[in-house]
Amino acid sequence: MNMPVTPAFPEAAAVDFDAATDLDTLYGLLDQVQMKNGWAKPTPSIYPEPKQPFVPAHWRYADAHAALHVAGGLVATEWAERRNLIMANPIPGNDYATVRTLVGAYQMVKGGETARSHRHTPNAMRVVLDAAPRTFTIVDGKKIPMLPGDVLLTPNWGYHGHANESSEDAYWIDVLDAPLVQHLGPMFFNVHPDGIEKTDIVDQQSPMRFAHAEYKPRLLASPEVAPGVRSLVLGPAQLTTFDRVVIHLAGSAAWTCRRNTANLIFNVIEGSGVSTIGDRTFHWQRGDMFAVPSWIDHSHVASEDALLLRVSDEPLMRMLGWFRSA
Ligand SMILES: [Fe+2]
Repeated sequence: MNMPVTPAFPEAAAVDFDAATDLDTLYGLLDQVQMKNGWAKPTPSIYPEPKQPFVPAHWRYADAHAALHVAGGLVATEWAERRNLIMANPIPGNDYATVRTLVGAYQMVKGGETARSHRHTPNAMRVVLDAAPRTFTIVDGKKIPMLPGDVLLTPNWGYHGHANESSEDAYWIDVLDAPLVQHLGPMFFNVHPDGIEKTDIVDQQSPMRFAHAEYKPRLLASPEVAPGVRSLVLGPAQLTTFDRVVIHLAGSAAWTCRRNTANLIFNVIEGSGVSTIGDRTFHWQRGDMFAVPSWIDHSHVASEDALLLRVSDEPLMRMLGWFRSA
């Protein structure tokens, strides 16, 4: 029996490195074999401490609310998977990430409207800003109530959709680790075969929901971490890549944080105040969002009692052995 003959793979002509008598000639020859010298690299690959291309930034809920209200008349939910606004960090070439691993967005679902169910590998979280009773996120076949201040999780590959069965438009903030998934590669997404997942089951006690009415009293009863400052991890349900900590600042309380390797997004659930992040100062109010990229000192002073939600990729940094503080 005659076996098929595999044609020989054509070899590139050998490069005569011995002909190089100076470095420029050697670099030219290296280009021919797709190699780079590591001793005269224009930008170092390894450096003494983190470089931070992302900048501190602040976005106002008043702007997002007004823009989404107008978008509600212009953008049907069928046109886009979600009617949302992305808080892209204002650095050249970036149109998505808020900090290196996370994206924050404002979303609006009109009264009586549904946003079809889908699933994706990025983990997602939402914090509700304005919503009337009978506004739901449907997670894996159960309706989870969305009330102002509630925090909801939709982990990797869990189906989720939104049903606003009230007569009022609902607004919330989404945070996803989609920029991290884009960096690493394992992005998958699909839409539920039924469009919106049909269900009549309302799950008040879902482990994916942290109700404002439940966590705020626990937060206020927890010990101070600094004068007038209390914090509480919203758990035990966890996402692998980012955690959520609610922080209460009593009126005029100040909270200073040394830089570390975690990337942070803050959402203002209640109150107002001023934050200094690196060399930038921002005045924030309820519903606002601000970005604290890693390795930047930051401090926060409340103008009145304030409740902040800090979303952080610290679990990821710890899992990889890369969490460090200054
Ligand atoms: Fe989603």
